[in-house]
Amino acid sequence: MPASRSPTAATSRRVLVVGSGGREHAIAWKLSRDGAEVLVAPGNAGTAAVAENVSIAANDIPALVKLALSRQIDLTVVGPEAPLVAGIVDAFEAAGLRIFGPTAKAAQLEGSKLFCKQIMHRGDVPTAMFREFRGVARAREYLQAREDMPVVVKADGLAAGKGVFVCDDRAAALAALDSLGGDEQFAAATKGILIEERLDGIEVSVMAITDGRTIVTLPPLQDHKAAHDGDSGPNTGGMGAYCPAPFVDAAMLADIEARILVPTAHAMRRAKVPFHGVLYAGLMLTAQGPKVLEFNARFGDPECEALMIRLESSLLELFDAAVDRRLDMVEPPRWRAGASVTVVMASEGYPGAVQRGRAIRGLDAAARVPDVEVFHAATRAADGSVLSDGGRVLAVTAVGPSLARAKLQAYSAVKEIRWLGAWCRKDISDKGLAHEREQLAAEAAAVGAVGEPAEPAVEKPA
Ligand code: AMP
Ligand code: GLY
Repeated sequence: MPASRSPTAATSRRVLVVGSGGREHAIAWKLSRDGAEVLVAPGNAGTAAVAENVSIAANDIPALVKLALSRQIDLTVVGPEAPLVAGIVDAFEAAGLRIFGPTAKAAQLEGSKLFCKQIMHRGDVPTAMFREFRGVARAREYLQAREDMPVVVKADGLAAGKGVFVCDDRAAALAALDSLGGDEQFAAATKGILIEERLDGIEVSVMAITDGRTIVTLPPLQDHKAAHDGDSGPNTGGMGAYCPAPFVDAAMLADIEARILVPTAHAMRRAKVPFHGVLYAGLMLTAQGPKVLEFNARFGDPECEALMIRLESSLLELFDAAVDRRLDMVEPPRWRAGASVTVVMASEGYPGAVQRGRAIRGLDAAARVPDVEVFHAATRAADGSVLSDGGRVLAVTAVGPSLARAKLQAYSAVKEIRWLGAWCRKDISDKGLAHEREQLAAEAAAVGAVGEPAEPAVEKPA
């Protein structure tokens, strides 16, 4: 491998961010605040305000390598999983370019659910029990033979969020197998099928930045994967997030790091596929403790937006240290006190087919709401206006001294924004707020049980 380019002076750092969503806008926004000159490929109307957009698709790896060489990029950061699984990190490293993210082999932690289970087994990482089947027919026989109970049916490979079915009973699981078997588009992803025990509990996301040895755990978040309020409706890429998720206290976060993140990084190294980049654990907080639902090999979206707005110290420094394998040398990141909330505004029809090209109004007014950043998830600029360009269009993000305040600011900004067919969930962060209220009530009850503080004893004059 040719020697890597070493970074130039901090003032002239040129960084390339690969992707076009809200996550990439938030990363580009933060890197530009850290003093970097940022390019985004391909980017969107929002990234154009903080960076230079270059119109190269996120999966056009040869063109991205060429760009990085010709523009003397000294660090590349990859947002989405597809280019990681396709080997963008391998290609950049072979060209002597510095890049933050896992190799194609390591990205199999997200790209193959079976590989992920094998790594967890090696690391003794808590996860749902499962059986693996070659093809739909075998899986069907198994379901018919075993007791009728809730299960989760999963396609082994990447299936754009359409490969997981949480089923209440055998009939639902058989129907899930039918739809997987009938889907030509995901034929490759469904060669392997996993049938998993269904876990119950609260879902949280915990991400860490790692150089393969050292793990920097980031604050816990909660995503909202269902399309509609009260977690109803179809599964989506994520309709909103907030940070921190109060269900995970400092002790539980330390436990997640020690029993899940560290053993996973070690198991990857022992399997000769060291993991560099963002290790994202999708967790279920079960009665038996946190268990892994899935690993992703990148920042979550919209979790990333809710994280970036709270990050006070340098993101660039963290990425550099991870790429140079010296994460053990950097100070832990500093986070703004309080909380953040991201509300995704989506197009009519999402997560199904959507109309694009609708003019978005009110972005300036939204940007004037204090403590708010409107990250763009799928937009493009045309003749001085901003048009919708996909399903999840904006990730309206606010920070505040409390979760309630951050929610209020985020929805105040949402109210300013309009386009034909725009919608969002109205209950982002409500589970966290309810948990906070319960905790307060429990504390008040505990004080009540102890009784009123006693009157101070009056000292008698001698
Ligand atoms: P995955 O792509 O594996 O994260 O699955 C997508 C979603 O399906 C998760 O975010 C969970 O909501 C749900 N899920 C996956 N596996 C399980 C499980 N074993 N038990 C309950 N829910 C699950
Ligand atoms: N928000 C979930 C994900 O990025 O996978």
